[in-house]
Amino acid sequence: MDHNIDKLLKEAREFKAETREEIENFRIKYLGKKGVLSDLFSSFKQVPAEQKKELGQKINQLKGFIAEKIDSLSQNLEKDEAKDDSVDLTLPGEPIQLGARHPISLVRNQIIDVFGRLGFTISEGPEIEDDWHVFSALNFPPEHPARDMQDTFFIEKNPDILLRTHTSSVQVRVMEKSQPPIRTISPGRVFRNEAISARAHCIFHQVEGLYIDENVSFADLKQTLLFFAREMFGQEVEIRLRPSFFPFTEPSAEMDISCQICGGKGCNVCKYTGWLEILGCGMVDPNVLDFNNIDSNKYTGFAFGMGVERIAMLKYQVKDLRLYFENDLRFLEQFRAAY
Ligand code: PHE
Repeated sequence: MDHNIDKLLKEAREFKAETREEIENFRIKYLGKKGVLSDLFSSFKQVPAEQKKELGQKINQLKGFIAEKIDSLSQNLEKDEAKDDSVDLTLPGEPIQLGARHPISLVRNQIIDVFGRLGFTISEGPEIEDDWHVFSALNFPPEHPARDMQDTFFIEKNPDILLRTHTSSVQVRVMEKSQPPIRTISPGRVFRNEAISARAHCIFHQVEGLYIDENVSFADLKQTLLFFAREMFGQEVEIRLRPSFFPFTEPSAEMDISCQICGGKGCNVCKYTGWLEILGCGMVDPNVLDFNNIDSNKYTGFAFGMGVERIAMLKYQVKDLRLYFENDLRFLEQFRAAY
């Protein structure tokens, strides 16, 4: 009998149930009127007195175990059922929030892509710069207003360490490290001490370009920029170069594109001129080449620089610059494009 109880305990331990019916059958088998335990208690009467104590304990142990087992089997089953109930397979799926690239990234990537196809590499440099790379090596005279506190953010009152006001500084770094042919663009963040308004911000993004080789001419500059304008704004775009001044280029120009809103007829976006200014450019001043140990008798080059926000404003017709910096999802979610 002793041996039999051990066997029953082992069987009960190994028992598994997946339905309420299986648990009920298990209960009847052990605890029912004609069940295993009732049989055991009947046979117990015939057991010799000296074995009763030990055997009685074993039978009670088995009974206790069966009761616990039934409880735990029922609880597990309830848990499984609750889990199943919480999944309503007829409900529509949870919407997945798709991120979108920032419009400034979209436009910057597109500019990089256009110049990449012309063989321009990408160069990067530090945002905290020194006077040499931002101004002196670019032929800015010492008294030039751009060096003024009004325009430039200086670091810790040290007039030599400042936040770059344009990414031309990266081009100086490229020139000091390499010899022509140089064909590179430098996208990046720049900083100017401006009051924040719809049309100006103290942080913005630029892409500047530099091409230096033998026999690089103004015609090359013009053709490159025409290609860029048409890839960026459409094949029907016209460009116009107006004479301008930059310390690091001679001659210098500002480039307009024909207004895409009115097709050149005149509207409030182009202020009724038919043209929109998009970048500055020119032939690299020989002084700049000499400062950077590039032989200005052998080589010539062109450079250009544009504000990414400005191009994005024209492309997306967003007239307030501040929107690009506020990270308002209602604004950002409207830009879903391939770049
Ligand atoms: N560095 C000029 C700016 O920040 C842009 C420029 C670059 C103009 C190269 C001419 C040539 O406004």
